[in-house]
Amino acid sequence: MANTTTSRPLHGSGIGLRLPHLAEVMATQPHVGWLEIHPENFLANPHATELLIELSKHYPISVHTVGISIGSAGGIDRDHLRRIVALVEQIDPVLVSGHLAWSTHGDEYLNDLLPLPFNEETLQLVATHVQEVQNLLGRPYLVENPSSYVGFRTSTMSEAEFLTRLVSSTGCRVLCDVSNVHLSAHNMGYDAYDYIDRMPADAIDELHLGGFTPEEDQASPGAELWVDTHAARLTDPAWQLYRYAILRFGRKPTLIEWDADIPPLATLLSEASRADQIATGVACAATR
Ligand SMILES: [Fe+2]
Repeated sequence: MANTTTSRPLHGSGIGLRLPHLAEVMATQPHVGWLEIHPENFLANPHATELLIELSKHYPISVHTVGISIGSAGGIDRDHLRRIVALVEQIDPVLVSGHLAWSTHGDEYLNDLLPLPFNEETLQLVATHVQEVQNLLGRPYLVENPSSYVGFRTSTMSEAEFLTRLVSSTGCRVLCDVSNVHLSAHNMGYDAYDYIDRMPADAIDELHLGGFTPEEDQASPGAELWVDTHAARLTDPAWQLYRYAILRFGRKPTLIEWDADIPPLATLLSEASRADQIATGVACAATR
């Protein structure tokens, strides 16, 4: 299996490249470490794919899938995976990642990232699917921790333990979405810092940061549910958790994710710059 890093490793912070910014990024080629794309935005758009192939000559690219569905009991979407493999061969990304979730049932594609119980049965199922993905990709796949709103009585292990065991059994890598940890800890009532402590630090190759939207919790009137909308700037407590994650994991390529109410490109670049400043500050403090 090929290494995750090619001749152009990811350095510093990157931004999620969404279609509204594609022409501007092509025209201005802003100063940013790398770009992450959702292949699903490009597979049915030949013109956008042409621009992406051109951009891949100028920026390291990370491919973040949202439709492979490694948690589906009925198996992964192999046709979709083959299309992604073809795109990966064209743009030679540094990393390829996706979610610890499911989004297909039979022939139905459910436009959501749905939760899984964390137990032996799920672990075996997900491990089989991750190995299948890695065999087709010819490289390790990064699995991202989900944003959580519900738990399952059938879970027998924590999410961090599940990811640690998935790494051991498949050789996959981990994408730690720090803002998902922040959001899930609030929604599920656990300690975000303890979760970071329990993650398999040696397997983490990328971090994500994205804003959430607070909504009234229909199940608990008066309480707030944090929804992973990727439609806002990060809050200060989320930045503090990011700083702790860098202390724990070391400096990792960090992505600013913004998928709804997409702001001007300059806003994403300023968030990426803030992530760089925090990571640099942690590194400087460590050398004093
Ligand atoms: Fe994420």
